[in-house]
Amino acid sequence: MDYKLELAAALAPAAGLEASEAAAMLETPPSADMGDFAFPCFKLAKTLRKAPPQIAADLKEKVELPAFVSEVRAAGGYLNFFIDRKEYASAVLSAVLGEGGRYGSSDLGAGKTICIDYSSINIAKPFHIGHLSTTVIGHALYKIYQFLGYRCVGINHLGDWGTQFGKLIVAYRRWGDHDTIEQGGVRELLKIYTRFHTEAEVNKGLNDEARAAFKSIEDGDPEAVKLFNWFRELTLKDVGRVYDLLNIQFDSYAGESFYNDKMQPVVDELREKGLLEVDQGASVVRFPEEEHLMPCLILRSDGATLYATRDLAAAIYRKKTYDFYKCLYVVAYQQNLHFKQVFRVLEMMGYGWAKDLVHVAFGMVSTEEGTLSTREGRVVFLEDVFEEAIKRTKAIMLEKNPGLANMDEVAKEVGVGAVVFSALSSSRIKDIVFSWDRTLNFDGETGPYCQYTHARCCSLLARAGYDPGAPVDYSQVTDDESMELVRLLAAFPGVVRSAAEKYEPFFITRQVVEIAKAYNRFYLAHRILGEAEEVKNARLALTQAVKTVIAAGLGLLGIAAPERM
Ligand code: ARG
Repeated sequence: MDYKLELAAALAPAAGLEASEAAAMLETPPSADMGDFAFPCFKLAKTLRKAPPQIAADLKEKVELPAFVSEVRAAGGYLNFFIDRKEYASAVLSAVLGEGGRYGSSDLGAGKTICIDYSSINIAKPFHIGHLSTTVIGHALYKIYQFLGYRCVGINHLGDWGTQFGKLIVAYRRWGDHDTIEQGGVRELLKIYTRFHTEAEVNKGLNDEARAAFKSIEDGDPEAVKLFNWFRELTLKDVGRVYDLLNIQFDSYAGESFYNDKMQPVVDELREKGLLEVDQGASVVRFPEEEHLMPCLILRSDGATLYATRDLAAAIYRKKTYDFYKCLYVVAYQQNLHFKQVFRVLEMMGYGWAKDLVHVAFGMVSTEEGTLSTREGRVVFLEDVFEEAIKRTKAIMLEKNPGLANMDEVAKEVGVGAVVFSALSSSRIKDIVFSWDRTLNFDGETGPYCQYTHARCCSLLARAGYDPGAPVDYSQVTDDESMELVRLLAAFPGVVRSAAEKYEPFFITRQVVEIAKAYNRFYLAHRILGEAEEVKNARLALTQAVKTVIAAGLGLLGIAAPERM
């Protein structure tokens, strides 16, 4: 049903190309009188040693056309193909209407497991706008892979180990108030943590005290462990509110401390395999010189393990536990070096599956006010961003549609969706500056715009009394605007697959926006209600298909599609 691919397959032997090469060359012509697909022959001129118009003319004679092509014309250096519009509309729309929300899904991943390490917050540290990308990209990938039949395991690799917990314990003992912190959660913890750093500037003894406190957690001192567990609980409660807003559940919260007793075997194994070298008291793994990769630090000179040590243990544990087909790490590009080292060490240990580890890197998010620093306590909490988005959305709705039922529920879905959508609006590696105006613009290429188009489809279908059982005459949806929609809907399954292949949920974001824009053009150009029955029915069927695919696309991004807004 992917006409472009089928056409490419038919063209390839005649043009002496691979089908994939032919597919890459096929273009969508700028106007309908040049057909639905155009094949430029210019590149072939060199190898075939003929003028492009001649090549086009020859190809026209040679190619065995699939049945859905109604006409082919050689024009200049192009070969233009005209698709039988009714055939095309009928094939695509009946597939969407038949499969409903499952349109575009597949069983490609049956029997395969994908581990997705995402969000991976740090205990007692704010869940701030810098975690937006990992959280929403990871969640979208989870949904996308699930849609393609994979079993997904979402892992929140908690940052719950390190000397900062010693600092926090010292700070709490000195300046903390139980009830205030119980009430205020991470925000209050952050206050005393910030105070620790200020006071440690002048009181150098504090750092030693903190080290000792951390050691007491390691040694299992009950009071220290109790505090540590409390910090952990408070943090999970705080972030839980955001995960609820986003409808995110994790399958595992095994974080750094989970690997405390799983690192020694890894260190032993590294030593046995002759990979561990001692360098100024520390233990490191060195890489072959030509790789220009800094050595990976495994043990500090005091014997303490490091972030990388825990990631080695975690990868081995995950392979054993889940036997993953792939394990994705949705983590900022600042950690490129770290993951390169970890993956390479595993490869050197002889684990062939190291090639199945993927660092899904992304760029930085900053706000218009600037970047963020935990130490100075100047942070934009993600929870505040969502709350603000909901508040602003509600204000817009009160103006646009004051009578709306479940206003609060809808404002939540739209406000949250707007932020998620904006975080998924460009290729993940790009740095983004978060802007309220761009995020909440109901007319721009935004979440609210797509949701609004979906709601518009819903209300139209309801008003018109759309009957899914009514026969559809597809020759009524062959005009240019309808065909543009048909083309975009036809491409959706392929877009979902490439989003998975390239770990780019934004391919879906873009497709959903294109569908929404094309629908609004269609809606402006054509009447639906009041048209003759067969025209009306066909346009409603098209509307239903559009609504279905927008909702499915938004769903894959982790965004709700309210029926009214
Ligand atoms: N907690 C880390 C951070 O905020 C991210 C952890 C990513 N996952 C991992 N397995 N290293 O930077």
